[in-house]
Amino acid sequence: MERFVIEGQHRLEGHIHISGAKNAALPLMAASLLADGIYHFSNFPILRDTLTFSKLLKELNVDSQIEDHVLTLRVEPTENKVARYELVKTMRASFYVLGPLLARYGEAIVSLPGGCAWGPRPVDQHLKGLQKLGATIDTVAGYVTAKAKELIGNEIVFDVISVGATCNVLLSAVLAKGKTILENCAREPEVVQLCEFLNKMGAKISGIGTPRLEIHGVESLHPADETIIPDRIELGTLILATAITGGNVKFTNVIPEHLGIVQEKLIEAGITLNIQDNSVHITRLGDVKPVDIKTSPYPGFPTDLQAQWIAFMTIADGDSKITDTIFFDRFKHVAELQRLGARIRLDGNTAIVEGRQRLIGAPVMSTDLRASSSLVLAGLIAEGTTFVSRIYHLDRGYEKLDDKLSKLGAKIFREQEP
Ligand code: UD1
Repeated sequence: MERFVIEGQHRLEGHIHISGAKNAALPLMAASLLADGIYHFSNFPILRDTLTFSKLLKELNVDSQIEDHVLTLRVEPTENKVARYELVKTMRASFYVLGPLLARYGEAIVSLPGGCAWGPRPVDQHLKGLQKLGATIDTVAGYVTAKAKELIGNEIVFDVISVGATCNVLLSAVLAKGKTILENCAREPEVVQLCEFLNKMGAKISGIGTPRLEIHGVESLHPADETIIPDRIELGTLILATAITGGNVKFTNVIPEHLGIVQEKLIEAGITLNIQDNSVHITRLGDVKPVDIKTSPYPGFPTDLQAQWIAFMTIADGDSKITDTIFFDRFKHVAELQRLGARIRLDGNTAIVEGRQRLIGAPVMSTDLRASSSLVLAGLIAEGTTFVSRIYHLDRGYEKLDDKLSKLGAKIFREQEP
């Protein structure tokens, strides 16, 4: 296993090109199962999760090749319709193959993803949606078996706003007979990109970017090409890394609107953002002001930036409250940040962060993807050396984060854990 060694208190300065979004790439890769042929995805992020998904696709008779951040998929009919536990357990998004396999072949057997490091993560809304389209669902020995001779459009109202359930049901409904209406859908940019891509493949989806999607089923689809949107979570993380070190960095290959409310929160915290068409220039000159946040579905504050915001608020000029309304117990990073000297109290799903803290480097452990990046942020500002272990979590979703930070002047090294 590898770990990061970070010598703190170096200001970040320079220019960084943001990578393609993991959460956009994965459902697009799943969509390829809907039609045989060749696909090209450019701006493709090379990450542990996207490579795991390629591995899963390989078992479903999809060949993949990556060159210059372009993923080429060659999709052929598959006899195998099983997504194994070993792959699904390392990456929950493997569950995305359920919808397209069911729609295309009338059958799919996919391992249940189980919980996450920080708690349960149900898939009931995925299953409810597919059942409403006419699938019979059985859960036996940890596997979901979905079967349908024919899928028929229906009206589905999701009980909660779920990115995964919206994508999975969309990936089935595009080939269902007749009209499907999905209500209370997620509106994340990654969901929007999936809808637009499916339409490029010949699907008929309207209401894109709204909570109500209308899908007119088609008999078949065809392959298409796409440029993966930039990763707004990588951008947010690196903006906070810049801000925490009082840095000055220009980010290119970004879609600034995708920051949603994060932009306002950064300004409230005293960060200067100079926004152009596809770049954002960040500077922090003065103190950081304490800013409360509450996570919510897009365009609200993303839960995927909650841990990093907590790290950022440890240096604010006062106390702040960070509430996660999406994943109530996503706070594993708090105990690790406390090891660096952070004073944070948990009250249910709210973290109360004391500002004006002096963080001192120490060994800390990554527990999940975004928690890892919050520890890196804290390490960048801590006095002395911080060791962040188990960075395989971080490599799931950040493309060469250490190289990007080094390029900006951080002192961060990757080494084998002793
Ligand atoms: C996606 C993102 C993840 C992000 C999350 C929330 C991908 C690959 N992952 O995860 O990075 O943190 O959105 O923005 O895009 N829920 C149910 N039943 C379901 C499904 C979800 O109750 O069947 C609940 C969840 O427990 C959670 C909320 O809905 O409270 C949102 O979860 P969801 O949007 O589904 O998250 P993911 O799609 O797994």
